[in-house]
Formats: sequence, structure tokens, C-alpha cells
Amino acid sequence: MSSQAPYKVLCVCLGNICRSPTAEVVLRHFCTNESLNVQIDSAGTSNYHPNKAPDLRSQKHALSRGYDLSSLRARQVQLADFIDFDLILAMDLANLNDLKTLQLQAVAHFGAPALQVQLALMSEHDRLFPQQALPDPYYGEADGFERVIDQCESSSRAWVEHFQQQRLSTSN
Ligand code: 4NP
Repeated sequence: MSSQAPYKVLCVCLGNICRSPTAEVVLRHFCTNESLNVQIDSAGTSNYHPNKAPDLRSQKHALSRGYDLSSLRARQVQLADFIDFDLILAMDLANLNDLKTLQLQAVAHFGAPALQVQLALMSEHDRLFPQQALPDPYYGEADGFERVIDQCESSSRAWVEHFQQQRLSTSN
């Protein structure tokens, strides 16, 4: 085990019941496979579904592709997250804009030196879906939920490559 503190990543969408829980579990899977010392959580910009399990459609589609979301519970982003996390990943541009507003509030609350966090799109380094939003599947059909998993896998591969280039410490 590494004695170094883990690099902490927060995945954020609107409700924290479809996209960001999927991103959390998929990114964790890819980081674990590469023995990266990365700790991952997820949250929503809204408080629509506090303490709710992920949407059953997200759970079903994810499980059919080997990802178990069942133990996750939704929570809203807090100002303290801007101190606790190293990287916050927005699933779409509305989420990113909301996070930038919250970041300003966190700076006002904690002071600029306390904030080392970086904000980025989940798709920042994705070569298949470059800087593309993860479309919100909530009001859509099954293909939307599959698309979320496709993009989470592709973007997570890209983040793992990026973390490896940054030489984040491994657990070995
Ligand atoms: P998510 O999807 O942001 O990917 O979790 C949504 C979940 C719930 C709602 C909207 C989007 N909602 O309006 O309740």
C-alpha cells in the first residue's frame, strides 16, 4: 500500500442518480485496474434526490456491463468539496457552470489559498467523445443509459492515461 494520500476525484451531474454514479464506479474500476492511488466519489449540483440509490435504469444497464451501483447514495455538492477534492469532473457544461459558481462561493468562504481543486469536463481528454457532454438520460430511453456507460468508459480510459502521465503514485 502507498503511504501517500490518495488523489481525490469527485464526479458531478445534476441529480447524482444517473450519470455521476455511473462515472464514479466506471472510473474507479479503471483506476483500480491500473493500481492508481485515486479515491472517487460523486455528487449532484441539485438536491433533488438526497440519499436515494441510483436510478433503477442506470443500475440495470450498468450491472449488465459489470458495474454495480447499488450501494451508492445521492448527495448534493458542498462547498467543502472544493477543499477536499483535487479534481472535480462535470458531466456536462451546465454542471461545469454551476460548479464554477460554487467555486467562487468556496473561495469567498474558505479563502483562495485553501482551494487547490481543478475543474474539468468528464470528457476533457476523451478522444472518442472530445469535450462532449454526457447527455442526460433521465427523460430518455434505454439507448441514453448505454451511451452514458460508453462515454464513462471512454473518458475514464483517457483520465487513467492522464493520471499515469502525471505520475500519480500507485498502490505498489
Ligand atoms: P443525472 O440525471 O443528473 O444524470 O443524475 C438526472 C436525474 C434526475 C433529474 C434530472 C437529471 N431530475 O430532474 O430529477
